[in-house]
Amino acid sequence: MSEPRPSITLNAFLMGTGHHEASWRLPDADPRVSRDVTYFQELARTAERGKLDSVFFADSPSLMTDPARRPSETLEPRLLLSAMAVATERIGLVATSSTTYEDPYNLARGFASLDAISNGRAAWNVVTSADLKAGANFGYTTAPTHAERYERAEEFLEVVLALWDSWAVDAVIADKTAGVWADPARVRSIDHAGDRFDVAGPLTVGRSQQGRPVIVQAGSSGPGIALAAKYAEAVFTATPTIEEGRDFYRRLKDATVAAGRSRDHIRILPGLVPILGSTEAEARDLERQLDDLVVLDHPLRQLAADVGIPVDQLDLDRPLPRDIRSADEIEGNKARYELTVAMARRDDLTVRQLLLRLGSGRGHRAFVGTPEQVADTIEEWVTSGAADGFNIMPAVLPSGLELFVEQVVPILQDRGLFRREYAGTTLREHYGLPVPGTEGGLPQTG
Ligand SMILES: Cc1cc2nc3c(=O)[nH]c(=O)nc-3n(C[C@H](O)[C@H](O)[C@H](O)COP(=O)(O)O)c2cc1C
Repeated sequence: MSEPRPSITLNAFLMGTGHHEASWRLPDADPRVSRDVTYFQELARTAERGKLDSVFFADSPSLMTDPARRPSETLEPRLLLSAMAVATERIGLVATSSTTYEDPYNLARGFASLDAISNGRAAWNVVTSADLKAGANFGYTTAPTHAERYERAEEFLEVVLALWDSWAVDAVIADKTAGVWADPARVRSIDHAGDRFDVAGPLTVGRSQQGRPVIVQAGSSGPGIALAAKYAEAVFTATPTIEEGRDFYRRLKDATVAAGRSRDHIRILPGLVPILGSTEAEARDLERQLDDLVVLDHPLRQLAADVGIPVDQLDLDRPLPRDIRSADEIEGNKARYELTVAMARRDDLTVRQLLLRLGSGRGHRAFVGTPEQVADTIEEWVTSGAADGFNIMPAVLPSGLELFVEQVVPILQDRGLFRREYAGTTLREHYGLPVPGTEGGLPQTG
C-alpha cells in the first residue's frame, strides 16, 4: 500500500459527551466531563493515535445553551488546548476566538503562546460570534450587526497577522559572545492605525516552528466566504448534501483564487456526524436510543425564537410554517439559518423530524451506518470535489472517536486516502500548507 499523497484532512471537533443533543443522557455518559482536563487529554491522544490532523473546540464568550438542556460549561479553549499540547506530540490544536469580543493584541499573544507551547501546532478558528447575547457581556446595549462584525473581523485579522509577523524568522541570534540576544531591526513595530484599532507592536512572542498559527474560518455567508477567501487556510462548514458540498467547495476555491491565492492553500472541511455500529441495524439502534432521549421542549423553544414565531404556533407533527423570518433578517448565524430552513423544506420534515435532525448535528451531515459506509461517504466527497477532508463530530464521545480511529481510519488508509504516519511535526505540515512568506503562501504582512 503506498503512502497517500496528499492525505485528506481529518479534524476532530470535540464537545463534552458528544455532538448529539442527548449524548450526556446515555447510561455510560459522564455528564460532568466538560471540566475534566484529563478527559480531553485522553481524547487528544486518541485522535493522535489515529494520525488525525487536529482537534478543535468551538467557543462563544457567552453561555450559549439553556443550562437545563445539556452540559453547557465550556472552558476557555486556548487554556484547555495548552494542557492538551503537553499531553501530545503531533496533533494540531484549533481554538475558536471571537473577533467581535476580543482584543487583537491579547489574542495574537495568546495564540502565539499556544503555538510556542505546542511547537507549532496551533490554529485560530476566526469567528465573528453569532450568539447575539454575547454583546451584553461586553457592555454593548445593541449587538453589532452581521455586516459590522465582518468589517471588524477584517481589520482585526490584519492586526493579528502583522503582530505575528513582527518578528522575522531569524530575529533571535542569541550571541553570547557579542552580548546580543536579538537583532532589533528584525523585531519591528507594526504601527497600525485603523478605523477600529490602534496597535503599535511588536508582539511579546516570536516565530514558532510553523511560522505563525494557521488561520481557520467557519462563517459561510457571503461576507464569511469573502473573509475566508482572503485569509483562511482551512474552513469548517455545514453542507448536509453532496450537491451543497460541491457548490460551496467550488465557490470558495474560486473566490480564493480570485483573492490571489492558491486553491491548494485552503482546506475545506464540512462537518460529518458519524453514528457508527458494526452493522447498519446496530447504528440505527444507537440513533434511536439517542433520539428517544431528546427533551423536545428545549430545541422547540429555540427553533420558535430562531424563526420568529410564538412556540405554540409550532406543531411537532406538521411542517415548519411558511410565514417565518427570512434569512435577510438574521443577524446571528445567517448561513446556518438558511441551511436549516432549506433542509426542512427540501425533505418535507415535520417540526419533530427537523428537531431530531438538528439534535444529532445542528445541520451538519449526520451519517448512520457501518465504518465501511462512512469511509465510502468520505471517499465520495473527497474524490468528487466536495471536500478536502472532514470535520469529524462524533455523536457520542469518547466512544465515537475511538470507533472512528479504530475502524474508519484503517479503511481510509488501506484505500490510500489517509496518512499512516505524520510526515511532519507542525499543523501546517499536516494540512499541507506553506510557511507564510515562502513558496507563494500568504503574503508576509507589515
Ligand atoms: C463547524 C463550525 C464551527 C463553528 N464554530 C463556531 C464557534 O465556535 N463560535 C461561533 O461564534 N461561531 C461558530 N461557527 C459559526 C460561524 O463561525 C459564524 O460565526 C456564523 O456561521 C455566522 O456567520 P455566517 O453568517 O457568515 O455563517 C461555526 C460554524 C461551523 C460551520
